[in-house]
Amino acid sequence: MCIRDSANGGVLLRVLPELGAEDGPEAHRVVVDGHLVEIAGASEAGVFRGAQTFRQMLGPEAFRRAPVSAKRAWELPPVVVEDAPRFAWRGALLDVARHFMPKGGVLRYLDLLAAHKLNVLHLHLTDDQGWRLQVDRCPRLTEVGAWRARSKLGHRASPLWDERPHGGYYTKDDIREIVAYAAERHITVVPEIDVPGHSQAAIAAYPELGNTDVIDTTTLSVWDTWGINPNVLAPTDTTLAFYENVLTEVLDLFPSPFVHIGGDECPKGQWKASPAARARMAAEGLADEEELQSWFIRHFDRWLAARGRRLVGWDEILEGGTLGGGLTPGLTPGATVSSWRGRAGGIAAARAGHDVIMCPEQEVYLDHRQAPGDDEPVPIGWVRTLEDVYRFEPVPSGLSPAEADRVLGAQANLWTEVMENQQRVDYQAFPRLAAFAETVWSPLPAPAERDFASFERRMTTHYARLDALGVDYRPPGGPRPWQRRPGVLGRPLEGAPPIV
Ligand code: ACM
Repeated sequence: MCIRDSANGGVLLRVLPELGAEDGPEAHRVVVDGHLVEIAGASEAGVFRGAQTFRQMLGPEAFRRAPVSAKRAWELPPVVVEDAPRFAWRGALLDVARHFMPKGGVLRYLDLLAAHKLNVLHLHLTDDQGWRLQVDRCPRLTEVGAWRARSKLGHRASPLWDERPHGGYYTKDDIREIVAYAAERHITVVPEIDVPGHSQAAIAAYPELGNTDVIDTTTLSVWDTWGINPNVLAPTDTTLAFYENVLTEVLDLFPSPFVHIGGDECPKGQWKASPAARARMAAEGLADEEELQSWFIRHFDRWLAARGRRLVGWDEILEGGTLGGGLTPGLTPGATVSSWRGRAGGIAAARAGHDVIMCPEQEVYLDHRQAPGDDEPVPIGWVRTLEDVYRFEPVPSGLSPAEADRVLGAQANLWTEVMENQQRVDYQAFPRLAAFAETVWSPLPAPAERDFASFERRMTTHYARLDALGVDYRPPGGPRPWQRRPGVLGRPLEGAPPIV
């Protein structure tokens, strides 16, 4: 495509597949030459990424949604930029289950991801505290599961409650719009339906999904506090059929090759106490509840693979296998692991021949506090500063080159237990998401050798871009008064985080 006027200059956009011969479809070249600009990409995605590079060159005003000066003359020195990403998966997770982000906020986040050349939005759509996706076959998931009566304010040990009901969900048309908006920005939306733990909202809507021989699941409501919940799905045919129905609708809505089915933090207490779960274990020849969990995951892994999709799961999907030293029993080759409890899961998965997305909680969980001290709002977890995130290295050391190739990329995760609205999400995400974006895009030197001073200097311009984008980031000097949450209990973790 050409938007060009030979007298007054213009921008030429071109797809040049040869640019991607070595560097992949997002490779691009931006040439500014006198009054002409050419943005060439190996694919349309490459052209789009190149346009982001060009926008950065233009300066902060180019990040506003409309021009602020009537006749702005954009001046750029002649320059050639050639660039391509280091990783194919450059993701961010938004937890819209703990606190719902209305559709407009998600669309805005897609703009922010695009401006940072990130290309995966992992939407955590279901959890104990809310079900956020309309499912035609199972209407109570949103009629009941999308609402909770009140919410714990702060960490679960806090005595405070926000007594306002909280809720919301995306209609199917909302999702179609989000997916299409993302596609225009060459971003893949990966849906997560978390099973078999993190499922109390679904059980509150459909009590037969829970372990009815252990507890009276009809008494459960959508959970109003945080933490790991003992009320997990029953490993029954009813549950499997129910979630096949849910996933059938998920596949209709989300073209992503990857579908995340969670698998994390599933306490085994109810299964241990459940005659039905024990009968299932006996029938399937499973030795213990860990194997029952991997049986459950395997079922959906095969179900997805039969439909041409790839399962992604948190690193617990390796349990009952790889982490014990053997091979994961029976996962399909396409099954992919989100390594969150450190690096061990990613290393084990890569060695077992599975693809990996690195998102270790010690390093890139952006709900964790970004500075020491009492000023940080509801401080959770370890201190992970802007510099720490800038020094994040996605590929674990010790992998062979072939194993390292299994690392598709990395993801920064935004869990929202203590982030109740868009401003709080902005505060936790930025500026650290900018540092993360550079670590997954650029072939940076080893963490200790990275030039953080140079990054900080470049951040001075980037803060002006974030201002133009309307991002409520954490200023370098600490939170603004209204960004604090005095009196709301967090859970700071002390000491150096173990990076394992
Ligand atoms: C997780 O943080 N539970 C994946």
